[in-house]
Amino acid sequence: MNFTPEVVIKSPGRINLIGEHLDYNGGHVLPAAIDLTVTLRLRKKNSRSCTIYSKSIDDSFQVDLDKLEISSQEWHNYFLGVIHFTEQRYPGHISGFDCIVESNLPIGSGVSSSAALECGIAVALKNLFDIPVTDEEIIYIARDAEHHFVGTKCGIMDQFAVVRGKKEKLIQLNCHDLSFDYVPAELSPYAIVLLNTNVSHNLATSEYNLRRQECEAALEIVRKRYPVYEALAHIPKKIVQEHEKEMTPKMFQRAEYVIEENQRTLQASLALAKQNLPDFGALLFASHTGLSEKYEVSCPELDFLVKQAHHHPNVIGARMMGGGFGGCTINLVHKDHMDSFIEHTALAYQKKFQIELTPHTVKIGDGVQLIL
Ligand code: GLA
Repeated sequence: MNFTPEVVIKSPGRINLIGEHLDYNGGHVLPAAIDLTVTLRLRKKNSRSCTIYSKSIDDSFQVDLDKLEISSQEWHNYFLGVIHFTEQRYPGHISGFDCIVESNLPIGSGVSSSAALECGIAVALKNLFDIPVTDEEIIYIARDAEHHFVGTKCGIMDQFAVVRGKKEKLIQLNCHDLSFDYVPAELSPYAIVLLNTNVSHNLATSEYNLRRQECEAALEIVRKRYPVYEALAHIPKKIVQEHEKEMTPKMFQRAEYVIEENQRTLQASLALAKQNLPDFGALLFASHTGLSEKYEVSCPELDFLVKQAHHHPNVIGARMMGGGFGGCTINLVHKDHMDSFIEHTALAYQKKFQIELTPHTVKIGDGVQLIL
């Protein structure tokens, strides 16, 4: 499929420096949009159907606008979900269209290709059909599509970063009330290197939803006696410890991780403000240990890459990033030693798992944008 588009959208992936699995626990996170993007090209057509073609996977499908049903194909559901929830808020605006999707964002790798696609579709529909949808609504439409059509009960961090990302800025986001600040991403002389394990264990969705349930259950137990706490990340550790016997061991472990990670994220922001990059990096390593041992969302491939980074003299911090069970690690690597670090780690990884890793040196970019 090829055509002259009426609307072109570029929608970025995101990184998260620290604060993992905190968004649905009312905690603090430190994400940013990156310069790896999904591009969507669209034109209207005179019918009630849409043809969507993905160049990256060379596959297409049709959407009947009068029959939006959940599909068995995950990538179809991003479109179906966003169309459904946009239509729900702004009925009668959307009519038939063609769309070509292309991406240089690795899929299912913890850099939020899903939110990039969902927010990109929402902004594309807004512009193609002049829908007065706001940025905030786009964040929620994309999140609802993920919850109800794709099936991951995700938080709000990814959609927020994709929509509100700003060049060279990190977003200090409080996921409880969505207040946020942009802070300069002053990490020099260190660069951000993502190492994609190229594995994606299919536990990801079910385990993700299970973690969320465990956290909600832990919060409910504490709230029976302390209803003042509205989010797990806000509870002092001492109070969680008082309730240890009422929780399952897993629930208790998850709660401890959430509270500690929230503290680490706040400390990391302070370290960054003071330009204390070694402390900042050390908090990333500590975050990984928590994610791996207490929250149990890592996997041998991610643990191996973080361990390699830890032993490398020119890396000050590394950890798994995103939902987990595969995908990327994020590494802060001295800019003069990036190539040797990547080469060394790729060789070791190949030797250990017989898998090639894919490195990405990313820059912090703007959020989703209308190009045409
Ligand atoms: C996925 C989800 C986010 C967030 C991260 C973990 O990317 O979509 O909402 O929970 O995992 O921090």
